[in-house]
Amino acid sequence: MRNSELKDKGPALITGAARGFGFALASELKKHGFELIITGRDEKRTKASAEKLGAAYYVTDLSVPGSAGALYEKVKADGYSPSVLVNNAGFGAAGEAWKVSKEKDRDLIAVNITAATELSKLFLSDACERGYGALLNVCSIAAFQPGPYTASYYASKAYLYSYTLAAREEAKKYNVSVSSLCPGPLDTEFFENAGANKPGVSMSAEKAARYAVKRFLKGKKTIIPGFYMRATRILPASVKTAFVARMKIIKN
Ligand SMILES: NC(=O)c1ccc[n+]([C@@H]2O[C@H](COP(=O)([O-])OP(=O)(O)OC[C@H]3O[C@@H](n4cnc5c(N)ncnc54)[C@H](OP(=O)(O)O)[C@@H]3O)[C@@H](O)[C@H]2O)c1
Repeated sequence: MRNSELKDKGPALITGAARGFGFALASELKKHGFELIITGRDEKRTKASAEKLGAAYYVTDLSVPGSAGALYEKVKADGYSPSVLVNNAGFGAAGEAWKVSKEKDRDLIAVNITAATELSKLFLSDACERGYGALLNVCSIAAFQPGPYTASYYASKAYLYSYTLAAREEAKKYNVSVSSLCPGPLDTEFFENAGANKPGVSMSAEKAARYAVKRFLKGKKTIIPGFYMRATRILPASVKTAFVARMKIIKN
């Protein structure tokens, strides 16, 4: 079954879709005919975004231990059987590795790694058993090299990217599609929320989502919006690491 045909099999569940890139990805999936379920942390904002998207919604903080499992079980108990899962919720933390608080790192790992892993596992378990479904994990070009001054974020995306590539190979025999989405800088609140300076160049979240959803529906393995971002893959990781170190990502 093609990923585009999954729209007739069940809704798409997108985490962190009350705003930013998640909202843009949800809007694109809707254009391709998917019913939507979105998640966010703030009741008012999540409800308002769900109304705009015509989506069902759940309010959950994915940094709380057990929240990912509880979310998935609640979605199923409410009678939904998602045919697509997009693990989009995630955040960064700028600063020298030893200066970022341990609480911030713990939450970052909980959302970017633990919740994404748990949701992937629960979704894949259903999808592989029934023989259809598609998973999209939002990683980053940060997955391809270490990131001085935002070390835990880059490492978290490297984890998710590696996990997703491995899961893709395993899921093939069940006719389940697994893709990694690795954008470069986007014009969302991401950098502000990370306490970081915005890079000079960024792509609109809508443009990146348009490209990403098209490629996802074709079942592509690694999706990188933007020609220049795709081109950076040929550079050695050591060169990119030195570049990131000089980017002045932290605010003084
Ligand atoms: N912006 C970029 O340059 C860029 C580049 C590459 C990859 N990405 C990835 O794209 C994804 C979306 O980021 P964005 O650009 O849209 O940034 P953003 O505007 O800061 O949005 C972050 C999203 O993650 C959710 N989130 C954060 N902490 C959460 C928590 N504890 N529990 C549940 N949800 C939580 C937020 O939900 P609330 O609405 O509840 O706050 C929000 O939807 C992230 O995984 C990010 O790593 C972004």
